[in-house]
Amino acid sequence: HEGAGKYLPERTALPELREAARSCRGCDLYRDATQTVFGAGPERAKVVFVGEVPGDREDTTGEPFVGPAGGLLDKALEESGIDRGTVYVTNAVKHFRFVPDERGKRRIHKKPSRSQIVACRPWLVAELHAVRPEVVVCLGATAAQSLLGADFRVSKRRGELVELPAEVADGVKAVAMKAVATVHPSAVLRAPADERDRAYSELVADLRVVAKVL
Ligand code: URA
Ligand code: SF4
Repeated sequence: HEGAGKYLPERTALPELREAARSCRGCDLYRDATQTVFGAGPERAKVVFVGEVPGDREDTTGEPFVGPAGGLLDKALEESGIDRGTVYVTNAVKHFRFVPDERGKRRIHKKPSRSQIVACRPWLVAELHAVRPEVVVCLGATAAQSLLGADFRVSKRRGELVELPAEVADGVKAVAMKAVATVHPSAVLRAPADERDRAYSELVADLRVVAKVL
């Protein structure tokens, strides 16, 4: 497999991208997953949220962020004053990656590899070029690695308004597109009980930085 590049359509509006992504075989993840989970939301969204990879529920429904992480994201958006109906949500990698548990009953989410992130990146960049948002929010290290580079450290620079590399932002908008990185909502869900409230508040605080520039 050599990445998603050769599956990109000539017309790069969202409906064409979404349709073409259905038959992507740019890496081996398409084989075991149910379907491509493309981004969702208005084509004119001012903000794009980028997660990591679809989860179990997203894989079966075909929609991003509809499982537990999506529920937490919805709540954090509301609390930070960002209207969920006006945002576009997507993932760095568009097919579910999982391993079966020991009894073969559940599918356990697995982090995408660096090569899978690179393989799937053309879809993400094409989505950003189609939507042309004012701000891109990287939810967690995978999205940040894909868009802001391997050296970017979410723990050090979360909640900061940063520039996107020219190669991503190029031709996207007259006004430069900005990015903000924060933690992944799943990290809040996984935090130990006594740290969860603080982790959630910090996520909301980062999202308020986004709300302010919209
Ligand atoms: N986690 C993600 O990163 N993306 C989803 O769509 C769901 C869970
Ligand atoms: Fe294509 Fe991305 Fe799916 Fe890999 S994960 S097959 S690159 S859409």
